[in-house]
Amino acid sequence: MFSSRGISIKLPENPNPQPLKWWQSEIIYQVYPRSFMDSDGDGVGDLKGIESKVDYIADLGAGAVWLSPIYESPMKDFGYDISNFTNIDPIFGTMDDFLSLATKLREKGLKLVMDFVPNHSSDLHVWFNLSVHRQEKYEDFYVWKNASGYDSEENPIVPNNWVSFFGGSAWEWNEIREQFYFHQFVAGQPDLNFENPEVLHEIPAFLDEAEDPNRPPNSIPTDYSYWSHIYTYDLPATRDSLADFRKLLDTYQVSDGKERCMMIEAYVGSLDKLFLYYGTKTKPIAHFPFNFEFITRIKSGFNGTDVENIVNEWFEKMPEGNMADWLLGNHDQPRIASRFGSELVDPFNMLILLLPGSAVTYYGEEIGMTNTNLTWEETVDPPGCQAGPERYQLFSRDPERTPMQWNFEKNSGFSTGDSTWLPINPNYKELNVQAQNETNGDSHLKVYKQILSLRKTDTWKYGSLEAYALENGQGFGFARIYKGSGFIVLANYLDGDMIINVGEHFKDIPDSAMVYTTSVNFQPEMSVGSFISTKSVTIRGKHSIILTFSKSENEKKNDTWVWTIVRQFLKFYI
Ligand code: NOJ
Repeated sequence: MFSSRGISIKLPENPNPQPLKWWQSEIIYQVYPRSFMDSDGDGVGDLKGIESKVDYIADLGAGAVWLSPIYESPMKDFGYDISNFTNIDPIFGTMDDFLSLATKLREKGLKLVMDFVPNHSSDLHVWFNLSVHRQEKYEDFYVWKNASGYDSEENPIVPNNWVSFFGGSAWEWNEIREQFYFHQFVAGQPDLNFENPEVLHEIPAFLDEAEDPNRPPNSIPTDYSYWSHIYTYDLPATRDSLADFRKLLDTYQVSDGKERCMMIEAYVGSLDKLFLYYGTKTKPIAHFPFNFEFITRIKSGFNGTDVENIVNEWFEKMPEGNMADWLLGNHDQPRIASRFGSELVDPFNMLILLLPGSAVTYYGEEIGMTNTNLTWEETVDPPGCQAGPERYQLFSRDPERTPMQWNFEKNSGFSTGDSTWLPINPNYKELNVQAQNETNGDSHLKVYKQILSLRKTDTWKYGSLEAYALENGQGFGFARIYKGSGFIVLANYLDGDMIINVGEHFKDIPDSAMVYTTSVNFQPEMSVGSFISTKSVTIRGKHSIILTFSKSENEKKNDTWVWTIVRQFLKFYI
């Protein structure tokens, strides 16, 4: 089990596997509805548009579609500020459109994952209005607090120094109620109180938060990152509320027998904290809390050792009986190609989609879409707008949300309108789905589909995992084996060649293996399906390769080898 290099097998082969649940094995494809496909030419993506692309998603090999919020919203935070949790926003379509999309997904065997945002509502939600007017039952639906005093011009002074995630004070004055309300995000997103006495209990004194000693050097007091959020962030009471949500889901599941899965977005800074969000056997919370380790720890200039550290730490600490989950991009994060360069799109897709565990693909990552540079005038994202013309680029999430690049046509086929809610990246003329489907050569999309096919094998589902940084961090590799068959992923993250004798690092690897797929423009070119020696595999800088091997293939090859000797022998003697 152990090699001189430390723990070698992170996961043993599972000899008596239980079938995996859909959310453990299927790729969840994240659609940001405003940006996926516009069916009516108003420049904003919608449900009918998504429906028209369901075949595309099914063809990728994904198993579920996660829709970022589509509920009624004044769109101050583009749908995360919800004014009615039970209706569809007209910009996206109607309830019928939603039902029709759901039917189409079901027909294609795709699951639908809805995004629920319980932390806050919009200030236009009827509850907020009732709370403003202190209507019975609703009076304490939100977090209200008196002014801590009044300045010389009779302006109310905020209760304390708490700063919103998007910058500026987290308190907003309400003229009617004559109190401040708390908002973690934009002022139009008042935080719900959950009627949970423990939430208030946790923050009874409404004390000021202190400066974070590790704050970024260029941060200023109106930035969220400037402060240590000990009273407003990652509170034990939040986990209690989430455990209640989970209980509710499990109750539904018992009554109708339908499998449900609760994923949660918890940016909590360390794995030890993150693992608390799985809950315990007696008080479960999420089936999986999104794991932002790759997103937060892998910065440009990273190497294979950084990747190895995350993978090691994850498998060493993960609470028993849980599933890993991997995420590298989403609607709040710069795109993979822009963070690391387009060459690393395939190596990263191979990594996050083939490690054991659940995985999410943010729309466009399958073709290696890049961030789009936007001007201050084009910026619409609240944290970008809040930061002002000099600093908006540090905070705006618009660059990773520009429309999906489908083809060579107007607006890259996203919309027939004259303008779109965010501009299309001009690189769509080379970088789009059609180009990558139709090329005779390699493409990120083709590699992506190959990866998803491999994910459907028993080797991926039940195989062992052995994983290492290679050549002092030049790269990273991992092998998965099930009943003698397996695959190896080898990636070189830096410049310069990496030459690997695979068997020196990984156990039970045959001397020859088949080239299953490579990153685009892999040099020296290798034909997919050909066998190569595993004793010396050369991988150029920023490239990766997947090799497969199977017991039967090797036996066949050995048989062929034996018969060749026998024939030579017979020739000699006859
Ligand atoms: C988390 C979402 O990912 C982000 O996009 C949104 O702005 C905040 N929640 C506020 O709802």
